[in-house]
Amino acid sequence: MISEPLEPGHDEDKRMSEQETAVFDPYYVYYKMRQDHPVVREGDGAWQVARYDDVRDVLRDSETYSSQVMDPSRENARAPSMLFSDAPVHNRLRKLVGRTFSPKQIAAQRNLITGRCEELMQVMAQEDCTDLITSLAAPLPVTVIAHMLGVTDGDMLEFKRWSDLIFGNIAEILFGDPSDEVKQAGADMDAYFIERIEELRKRPERNLLGDLVEEETEDGKLSDEELLSFCRLLLIAGNETTTGLILASVRVFHELPETFIQLKDNPVLIPGFVEETLRFYSPFSQTIRRTTRDVELAGVEISAGDLVTPLIASANRDEKAFDRAGEFIIDRKPNPHLAFGSGVHNCLGATLARLEGEIAVSAMTQRLGGISLVEHDPVSLAQFGGPDKLMVNIQPLH
Ligand code: HEM
Repeated sequence: MISEPLEPGHDEDKRMSEQETAVFDPYYVYYKMRQDHPVVREGDGAWQVARYDDVRDVLRDSETYSSQVMDPSRENARAPSMLFSDAPVHNRLRKLVGRTFSPKQIAAQRNLITGRCEELMQVMAQEDCTDLITSLAAPLPVTVIAHMLGVTDGDMLEFKRWSDLIFGNIAEILFGDPSDEVKQAGADMDAYFIERIEELRKRPERNLLGDLVEEETEDGKLSDEELLSFCRLLLIAGNETTTGLILASVRVFHELPETFIQLKDNPVLIPGFVEETLRFYSPFSQTIRRTTRDVELAGVEISAGDLVTPLIASANRDEKAFDRAGEFIIDRKPNPHLAFGSGVHNCLGATLARLEGEIAVSAMTQRLGGISLVEHDPVSLAQFGGPDKLMVNIQPLH
C-alpha cells in the first residue's frame, strides 16, 4: 500500500507539522482539504474544489462553470481553442476534429507508436542510469503528435524546442505576459504550420492536419487561425500529460516493484495498471473554470465571475468515491476516475494517451529487468508537466 492518507493522530502526522508534510506530499494537502475545506480559496484566488462529487459536478455543468476563462478582450487573445471555449463554438470545433480522433483512426497509430517506443527502448536498455524524460517520456508523445500533424523528421528538433518553450510557460501565455523568447517560439511555430497548411491545401496528405484541412461539416471548414489554435492545443494538452503518465507508471514501479513483475508475467494486466496509474497519480491534476452565475457548491457561496479549480488529482483519491482510495490496486474495477475530465470537454486524446501508455509500459516491462527512480521530489512530480529531469536506474534483462 502506498501514499495512504495520514489519519489525524497518525505517528507521521505528529512527527511533522502540517506545513512540513504538505511540502513533501501534495496528496496529504488534498486529503486535509477533502476532510476540512472541500471548497476553499486563498484571498481572491481561484476556488479549489477537492471532493470527487463536486469536481465531477463542476466538470459536467458547463453552463454554470464556463471554460472561457480568459478575458476575450486581451490583446493577444487568439481564436479560442476548444479547451477554452463554450457552446456553440466548442461544439463546432469538437465536431470538426472529433472524427480524426476516432478509436479507428487512433488504432491506426499503433505501429508508429510501437516502432518509436522500440527505438527509444533499445537505447535505454543499454544504460545503467538515464534521464527518463529525455530518453522516453518526452520524445514518445512529441514524435507521435508531430507525425500526426505531418511534421517531417528534419523539423522535429525545432518542433520539440517550440513545444517545450510553449508548454513550460503556459501560465504566462494564458494569464500573464510571456517572455520575448516564448512569444518568438509561438510565432515561429505558427509560421511553420501556416506554411504546412498552405502546402496541404495544394497537395493533400493523409495525416491528422491533412484530414483537418479537408474536414467540413454543415458549419463549414476550419479557418487557418482555428487550425493553428488546434495545433497549439494538441501540444499543450497531449504532450506533457502523456509524459506525466509515463513518469507516473515508473513512479509506481519504484514504489511497488512487484507491479513490474506482475505486468512482465501477465501483460493482460497492463490496461488496468494504466487506468489505476491515471487515477493514482493523475497527470492533468487540475483544470480551471469561471462561474457564469452565483452558485453554491458544498455549502460555499461562489460569486459569478470567480475562477474555480476542480482538483482532479484530489477527486481521484476521494475515499467516498473509491474503496481503499489510498491503495494502488492494479486491477481495480470499476475505476471511474476523472483523470481525463468529464462532460463536454472530456479528453479528446484519451484513446491515444491510453494506447501510448500501454505501449510504453509494455516495452519497459518486456525489455528491461527493472526500473527505479534514483531520487524524486513528490512536489515536482505532482506538478502539471512534472520535473524537467528524472534520473532512473535500469536493471538489465537476464
Ligand atoms: C495521460 C494523458 C492525458 C491526460 C491525463 C489528459 C487529460 C485531459 C483532461 C483532464 C481534459 C479536460 C480538461 C478540462 O475539462 O478542462 C483534457 C482535454 C483535452 N485533451 Fe487530454 N489528456 C491526455 C492526453 C491527451 C492527448 C494525447 C491529446 C491529443 C493528442 C489530448 C487532447 C485533448 C484535447 C484536445 C482536449 C480538449 C477537449 C475539449 O475541450 O473538448 N489529451 N485532457
